[in-house]
Amino acid sequence: MKKIISVVGARPNFMKVAPIHRAFQEYSNECKHLIVHTGQHYDKKMSDDFFTALELPDPDYFLGIGSASHAVQTAKIMIEFEKILLAEKPDLVLVVGDVNSTVAAALTSVKMGIKLAHVEAGLRSNDREMPEEINRIVTDSISNFAFITEYSGKANLIKENFPKENIFFVGNTMIDSLKYALPKTEKSTILADNNLEKNNYVLVTLHRPSNVDDKKQLTEMMEMLKKLSEINKVYFPMHPRTKKTLVEFGLDSYLKVQNLILAEPANYIDFLTLMKSAKLIVTDSGGIQEETTYLQVPCITLRTSTERPVTIESGTNILVPPKADTAYEVIKNALENPKEGEIPQFWDGNAALRISEIICTNIFG
Ligand code: UD1
Repeated sequence: MKKIISVVGARPNFMKVAPIHRAFQEYSNECKHLIVHTGQHYDKKMSDDFFTALELPDPDYFLGIGSASHAVQTAKIMIEFEKILLAEKPDLVLVVGDVNSTVAAALTSVKMGIKLAHVEAGLRSNDREMPEEINRIVTDSISNFAFITEYSGKANLIKENFPKENIFFVGNTMIDSLKYALPKTEKSTILADNNLEKNNYVLVTLHRPSNVDDKKQLTEMMEMLKKLSEINKVYFPMHPRTKKTLVEFGLDSYLKVQNLILAEPANYIDFLTLMKSAKLIVTDSGGIQEETTYLQVPCITLRTSTERPVTIESGTNILVPPKADTAYEVIKNALENPKEGEIPQFWDGNAALRISEIICTNIFG
């Protein structure tokens, strides 16, 4: 029996690991799968609610790390995760995505001689000012196995001399979760609770440090959203980081703008409901570019680069620099002429099954 530990830490990790955990149950004679939650995200709204919605069992270990500077957060995770690895001696550690928990667990594992697999490997924005880009580059450079969601991932890894035979194009586990959870959105009351009509509101998420940690930039984005709310209702469930800086910068007056609804972070099912029924989505998130591509809802990404080019090449995503005037014009135009798109290869709900099969029958077979 081989032992595999998957690591989750922040909100976008939970939906990637939930289907992987389910898929490993199909191989319960060959592989035992454990989950370690670093506690990078710890709020009920950012963490616990996701475990419930995704039917994830309580993690086998919770490290309780919480928020801190990048160095402190990464270091604390390494210290605590090393203890788990010493006790459990897994055959493989599986990390997902690009958050600090990903790189911290990756470094800890390889330094203890434990094999490492990265799910969602090879994505590159080529913008090293993004902390996630550093996390991606470091994690991939020390991983033994790479599971990729789109072809650009393979091309990037090959360019960086990652051994070809250990790259597996499996699709997107985030889409596995989305497909699994979609029927549950029928019971969500989030639209009615907020007087939102299907196909008649713009859904917004912003939390990248480059957009929300600078007063001038956040003000510019809020002004743009205020203007947008004059032509279309805007619903903006705020990440705690964004809410915190909005208050710190004294920008609370935006909380009172008519037709611009600033709300608490939504749980997974409510957020899927909000996404699938939106007329258009404005975001700076990574995962939402993929989810909107699957749902075929137009998406405007307020960033200068994306690590997920397939969402632009064949999906509904449009990349726009986060400048108020340009962004407003592009959004207005997209509301009138929505971009259509196609679902990328293997974004079919079976990515996690491919991963568990490769691990249990190919790598350990
Ligand atoms: C992290 C990830 C980012 C991901 C995002 C999704 C890194 C470098 N960044 O960014 O890639 O897109 O999660 O949410 O790992 N906070 C709370 N409650 C929580 C979690 C955070 O209030 O449960 C607040 C804290 O004030 C904290 C701030 O949010 O200081 C930022 O949290 P942190 O985990 O450091 O980074 P994120 O911005 O969430």
